[in-house]
Amino acid sequence: MKIALIGTGYVGLVTGTCFAEAGHQVICADCDAQKVKLLQSGGMPIYEPSLEELVRKNQASGQLRFTNDTKEAVQESLVIFIAVPTPPLPDGGVDLSAMEAVAREIAGFMTSYKIVVDKSTVPVKTGEKVAETIKRYCKSRVDFDVVSNPEFLREGFAVEDFMNPDRVVVGVASQRPVQTLRDLYAPFHAPIIVTDINSAELIKHAANSFLALKISYVNALSVICEASGANIQEVANGIGMDSRIGRQFLNASLGFGGSCFPKDLSAFIKIAEQIGYDFGLLKEVQLINSRQMDRFFKKIQETLWILKGKTIGVLGLAFKENTDDTRMSPAMDLCRRLLKEGAKLRVYDPKAMVKAKAELPQAEYIEDMDAVAEGCDALVVATEWPQFKNLDLERARKAMSHPIMFDGRNLFDPSEMEEQGFVYKSIGR
Ligand code: UGA
Repeated sequence: MKIALIGTGYVGLVTGTCFAEAGHQVICADCDAQKVKLLQSGGMPIYEPSLEELVRKNQASGQLRFTNDTKEAVQESLVIFIAVPTPPLPDGGVDLSAMEAVAREIAGFMTSYKIVVDKSTVPVKTGEKVAETIKRYCKSRVDFDVVSNPEFLREGFAVEDFMNPDRVVVGVASQRPVQTLRDLYAPFHAPIIVTDINSAELIKHAANSFLALKISYVNALSVICEASGANIQEVANGIGMDSRIGRQFLNASLGFGGSCFPKDLSAFIKIAEQIGYDFGLLKEVQLINSRQMDRFFKKIQETLWILKGKTIGVLGLAFKENTDDTRMSPAMDLCRRLLKEGAKLRVYDPKAMVKAKAELPQAEYIEDMDAVAEGCDALVVATEWPQFKNLDLERARKAMSHPIMFDGRNLFDPSEMEEQGFVYKSIGR
């Protein structure tokens, strides 16, 4: 099937590439000429496991093309996915101007029946607006359908998630586009849930907010664990083995971040407010999340007392493992707080150093994870990269005058750390 992706960010690039890998003919269009040039010449704007290999392979076989020309992408395709940024507005709402602009553009180029699919995360009722816009700006009387098809891809696992989805949600206003969407997703062997457009749009915000709620719940429990001498990991295992609860997203941390949860929570609260519902539950989720970072920072401050002039090693800058994405990263937030207090930072991340350096040039970037601890007063684990568990602890201990570790991701075992001679502080244990 011939499909187009308008927008080659995390979602558009992964979606287009995986559809190409599944045998569809894909054109990815982007208005950013430099990015298109980079992709055409074999470069990658982001790091995402196995994405680069798949892009190269499908580009070489002709299944996947990149262009700056939206007209060509629209006219050559039956299904057009919109995967443009929907950034937050200062009031927590969503900026849908890119969405509107692309809908207008598609309308202007349509000369035959098209299925226009919204992949971007948008407030409920956006599909209706997209349909209205296309109708208004379409020069000739061309038929079309608008579909909502939210994505559930985790950064760092996006290709894996796309290839093996738990479910595919397809929101439609009529039955006409359903079989095409079923055919498009047939290679992925996933259950397909067909809903109305509003429900599909809500599913996305509801899913992300629920996952964020789960994390804030476990983070709130971690405070009770610390105060009572219980262990959050044992509590999480104990409740998570109830299949109605599930163990995933019950890892206590210094807080969640990234370009999705914080933004989607604010948006969902705003959407509810506009509909006349005060979503206090989600406001509490936000509050617990910001307090979790405050508590972690306070733990460092109380232990080290004066931060001015102290050298702190930070392991992890990305907002989570397997990505180079530092947007709304708790690790970056922590670094900023430490710098503000006058600490010197020695930092390391397996993939996010280039992006972090552009934002935080004041820190010293260390290329070797095991060298970070040299001359440090304390080490902080801020991102859940699994390779941090292989840190050479003996070398780190010897390199520090007073070996202290603050583990914001509970990667290490408290008793082993004590045996290794560290003062070790983690979350809820
Ligand atoms: C999230 C959702 O998981 C995806 O399903 C969704 O498609 C995506 O947002 C999106 O809307 O595009 P993502 O933001 O890539 O994916 O990352 P997550 O794996 O969900 O992690 C988000 C944050 O929560 C990270 O900072 C992570 O460290 C933190 N986290 C996650 C915890 O603190 N504890 C946990 O148990 C799990």
